[in-house]
Amino acid sequence: MKKGLLFGLLAAAVAFGAGAYFGRSTKQDVVISSSTSGASYGGGFKAEGDNAQASKTAATSDVLRSVAGPAPTNVVMVKDGESIQAAVKAAPAGTIIRVMPGTYHETVYIDKDDIRIIGVIEEGRRAVLDGQKKLNDAILYSGNNFVVENLEIRGYKGNGVMGQAGNNFEIRNNIITDSGVYGIFPQLGQNGIVEYNIVSGIADAAIYIGMSDNIHVAHNEVFDSVAGIEVENCRHVIVEHNYVHNNTGGLLAFVTPGLPIKTTVDVIFRNNFVVGNNHVNFGAPGSTVSGIPAGTGMLVMAADDVVIEGNIVSDHKTAGIIITDHAHAQNITADPESDPNSDRVKILDNVMLKNGYDMIPEVRAVLLSEAKGGGAIDIVRVGPSPGSCIINRHQYVTAGLGDFADCDFTNTAGISTYLLPSVPPRKIDPADRGKVAYLGICSGCHIYNGRMIGPPVQVIQALYLDNPQGLADYIAKPVKKRSDYPEMPPQDYLDPQTRIELAKNMHDLNN
Ligand code: HEC
Repeated sequence: MKKGLLFGLLAAAVAFGAGAYFGRSTKQDVVISSSTSGASYGGGFKAEGDNAQASKTAATSDVLRSVAGPAPTNVVMVKDGESIQAAVKAAPAGTIIRVMPGTYHETVYIDKDDIRIIGVIEEGRRAVLDGQKKLNDAILYSGNNFVVENLEIRGYKGNGVMGQAGNNFEIRNNIITDSGVYGIFPQLGQNGIVEYNIVSGIADAAIYIGMSDNIHVAHNEVFDSVAGIEVENCRHVIVEHNYVHNNTGGLLAFVTPGLPIKTTVDVIFRNNFVVGNNHVNFGAPGSTVSGIPAGTGMLVMAADDVVIEGNIVSDHKTAGIIITDHAHAQNITADPESDPNSDRVKILDNVMLKNGYDMIPEVRAVLLSEAKGGGAIDIVRVGPSPGSCIINRHQYVTAGLGDFADCDFTNTAGISTYLLPSVPPRKIDPADRGKVAYLGICSGCHIYNGRMIGPPVQVIQALYLDNPQGLADYIAKPVKKRSDYPEMPPQDYLDPQTRIELAKNMHDLNN
């Protein structure tokens, strides 16, 4: 999430005041489209080079409930008082680790394929991973075909469940509370399911899908966090049937500039309850999320082909949906390799009410003069979004949507998932270890040219110009250096060789 968005919106609001962004002041004829009888969206993901496979995927996707392959037959049990990490270490690839109810104070690293960590729920009692506000991460996986289910995770400082470049993952039915920066954070993965989790009290995003492809996020409840569900620098993601409430911002799709993967394309937000996301922003002061205006239902920033359909979006004091670009999020450094605009946004039927009731006064004044709903506002668009469309626009109070065309489709009923039966495991060439570790781990908190959670890569390059070993040592045992940043979590689970290759990779980055 970008720092300075609030400033950007304020600046845009002044522009509204000047009338610069108002699409229309005269009423257009009402065009009514029925979402139950019109054409389906024909865009979106198609499996590459194989149309038969693509349509088969679409047709069978209602039963595609699993991407991690057949369940392993080797099963081990971990009981209260034992170590989950010890069981993972001892397990051959292809093991289900069943964790009995109890309390476990540990970080579990999974660096092999086909491991499933499945909590056993007995009369409502779960296996609880409790970081006691001392440990950084509960579950860190880099293996492929990884499944984690039924755990309760609380009191970690970094991440609840973080994936680092594993493909075909399933993160299901976990309860994650008060666990640091990201609740569930698959980074750099392809083909993954995040469903039926309850995540709350997270200082950045409750669910953060980062630099990933073909992801399905469904039936989760996320609340009391700064960002609810964030889709960042990803392609082909469906976010549906989630209950997103009392966060600062609800659903977000955007491009963070300065990350190695430069686009967010093809995201469907549909059939979600996005309600009352007015929480005071408690992102670390100066951190990148601290700029989300409280009371934002959905935010699209520099993401392309985002379809918004069938959501109930109510009670957001700033706006129901904000569509913007990098230029209006001030204080961010534009990335010459990222298109700054939100192209081809598609807004279909949604239920929107009680949004934008506490917009800043200048905007309200203009809305009143335009006789647009007495100052409430459902959808605001600031900055260019070429090729965008909407149906039944008359039902919303909008600002800046004058050049949105009428969509030539009314629903996404033809698309049930972007998941694939399974994709090849990500094989990491030893020569690429440093690069992949940077992508999968460091870029969760560091971007090239700006502040994210940690300082910019450019600053780090200057500090460790001729000293890769110094960098490799620092990340294994970071010490607190900057009073206005949080602590950097130790990366001591990485072997010395990977750390030195990481340092060299970071030294060579130029974007
Ligand atoms: C969870 C967020 C997070 C992750 C992940 C992370 N960092 Fe950091 N990093 C930080 C923060 C915050 C600081 C600033 C710490 C301070 O100044 O006290 C920092 C600072 C640094 C510094 C500056 C050290 C100095 O001497 O000033 C280096 C180098 C660094 N990180 C490298 C890395 C590398 C390499 C990785 C990937 C293995 C990584 N970081 C992953 C958050 C993170």
